[in-house]
Amino acid sequence: MTDPTHPVLAAVAQGLGARHRTLPPWLFYDRRGSELFERITELPEYYLTRAEREILETRSDDIVRLAASGAEDPLHVVELGAGSATKTQLLLRAVVRLQGACTFLPVDVSEAALDGAVERLDREEPGLRVRPVAGTHHEALPVIGELGPRRLVLFLGSSIGNHEDEEAVALLSAVAEQLAPGGCLLLGTDRRKDPAVLLPAYDDAQGVTAAFNLNLLHRLRRELGADFDVSSWRHEARWNDAHSRVEMHLVSTVAQVVTVPGAGSFHFEAGESIHTESSIKYARPRVERLLRDAGFEPVEVLTDANERFDLHLARRVQG
Ligand code: AVI
Repeated sequence: MTDPTHPVLAAVAQGLGARHRTLPPWLFYDRRGSELFERITELPEYYLTRAEREILETRSDDIVRLAASGAEDPLHVVELGAGSATKTQLLLRAVVRLQGACTFLPVDVSEAALDGAVERLDREEPGLRVRPVAGTHHEALPVIGELGPRRLVLFLGSSIGNHEDEEAVALLSAVAEQLAPGGCLLLGTDRRKDPAVLLPAYDDAQGVTAAFNLNLLHRLRRELGADFDVSSWRHEARWNDAHSRVEMHLVSTVAQVVTVPGAGSFHFEAGESIHTESSIKYARPRVERLLRDAGFEPVEVLTDANERFDLHLARRVQG
């Protein structure tokens, strides 16, 4: 019997038991997976992080002025899924430069990533007060409400793209509920573009993304005692044009049965896959719709020089 209090086991039982086999992408981020993701962000093919950093390097002052406009109170910053917060440092420096001081709440499930970020920011950014929050977005959201009235919430890296629209609106609405009217959201989204650019970003030449995807099976072996023979699975990135998303799959190279203690036995045909992640690539109207549906008014869109990535600044409207 599946133990519903064990979230990994419950997710695996549900995802592998469905006709369209899936595993949720949050399972990627154990210690090894988080390390591999940090390496992905430095890969030549993975342009997303560099493009977003370029926008923050060139436009942070504009973002802070727009977010702070129309209010006397100082701006405080929250980042959902902050990780090492290296890109964010550019924006935080601009806030401190323009208003003298700032409180920063990095939120992340990884305490190790938060410890590193706090240690570095404390050392390198005088004027910044860092109050880390270890937990999921939903656990952390009430803490946002405790900051001063003028808040800027950052949700960067196109992490929103790992959620279907309905789920994305629910998440953004929960953020909006914690903001007073006038509070701001800065949302990073990857733009729809040629699959010849998109696919290598999710299937790099060094095989780091393949290792990131396959690490999920290693995790299930380690944590659940699942008997996945990892060598009989391969990583695949697919462009799904109808849904405007890159999908990551783990493809079984042989017919096989996998047993996950507590969840059951699952038969896979040769060539059958487990869909492990979708990364939506957005046209602007789609993002604007998500923002409005969640209770935000779009203010400005900022783009990198190659027009690959967007940062959307939006303001909370009267609820
Ligand atoms: C975290 N997320 C936005 C990344 C993405 O691009 O969807 C995760 C990732 N998966 C493969 N490479 C990176």
